[in-house]
Amino acid sequence: MIRDIIADYAKNVESELDILLGGKNDCCQKKIYESMRYSVDAGGKRLRPVIMLMFAKMFGLDSRHVMRFACALEMIHTYSLIHDDLPAMDNDDLRRGKPTNHKVFGEAMAILAGDGLLNFAAETVLEKGYNLPAERIIDAARELFNASGVSGMIGGQVIDIESEGKNVGIKELELLHRLKTGALIRAAGRIPAVLAAADREQLLAVTGYCENLGIAFQIQDDLLDVFGDSAELGKNIGSDEANGKVTYVTILGREGAEKLVDEYTDKAIACLEQFGNGALELTELARYLTKRRN
Ligand code: IPE
Ligand code: IPE
Ligand code: MG
Ligand code: MG
Ligand code: MG
Repeated sequence: MIRDIIADYAKNVESELDILLGGKNDCCQKKIYESMRYSVDAGGKRLRPVIMLMFAKMFGLDSRHVMRFACALEMIHTYSLIHDDLPAMDNDDLRRGKPTNHKVFGEAMAILAGDGLLNFAAETVLEKGYNLPAERIIDAARELFNASGVSGMIGGQVIDIESEGKNVGIKELELLHRLKTGALIRAAGRIPAVLAAADREQLLAVTGYCENLGIAFQIQDDLLDVFGDSAELGKNIGSDEANGKVTYVTILGREGAEKLVDEYTDKAIACLEQFGNGALELTELARYLTKRRN
């Protein structure tokens, strides 16, 4: 079952994250490591590393070659959530079923924990010991930091914040989703492709899958913010409305937004046709996500 396959991949990533962050026990910096670990250990679906490991398998790449990138991506994603929840941004109190980082450690430490995770992600991927050409590692690292930077996730968060209370149209909303959420999901597919020296056509197919999946994923996030269950979701609902955000739900309504999730999912799956059965896990993952409740 795809559910068990996902859980297996997630478990491997979590053990590696545990080793990486567990090694960080500098006694005079106890508090920030505790704060960083708090949010990473709180759980989460580990979707981005799971996608990365599935693509690695599809390309016949040993998972050891992508594991550091998978952990780094999860660190960056977790930092983005810590900052996203701050009072200056979405001002949320619950994340991954627990009080948000700033509620436990205070705002200053939450900002620093996010910064700490971003830097540790860089250290992690730039560590020696790969058994791959250095140029591929550099290309993959560039993918990671472009995706999380101003031309990717951060840029999306900027548009998100600047759009609050404004009448945003569907085109602008699509760009916002493409950047704030799509960019890291895109990197999850492109990094293993780059590490495996995939050809241009393969890279385009991977990019197409991830871009469409990323938009579907964020539309669903918007749906769950209105129609989800806080206990299942691990975060409070109604945050978007409270912050005056325009979403696919406010523009298209529930049915329109749900229909779009299916359309983007179909488009994502169609992109992987050339890989045949090799893409089975990724196809099933995309379908599975359309039913997600968290
Ligand atoms: C939440 O991401 C923020 C978005 C980009 C939609 P996830 O839904 O993947 O959150 P976790 O990692 O499972 O907590
Ligand atoms: C967040 O989007 C995207 C990030 C880059 C963190 P949201 O603000 O909708 O994510 P949630 O709903 O708080 O998880
Ligand atoms: Mg937000
Ligand atoms: Mg938020
Ligand atoms: Mg949301």
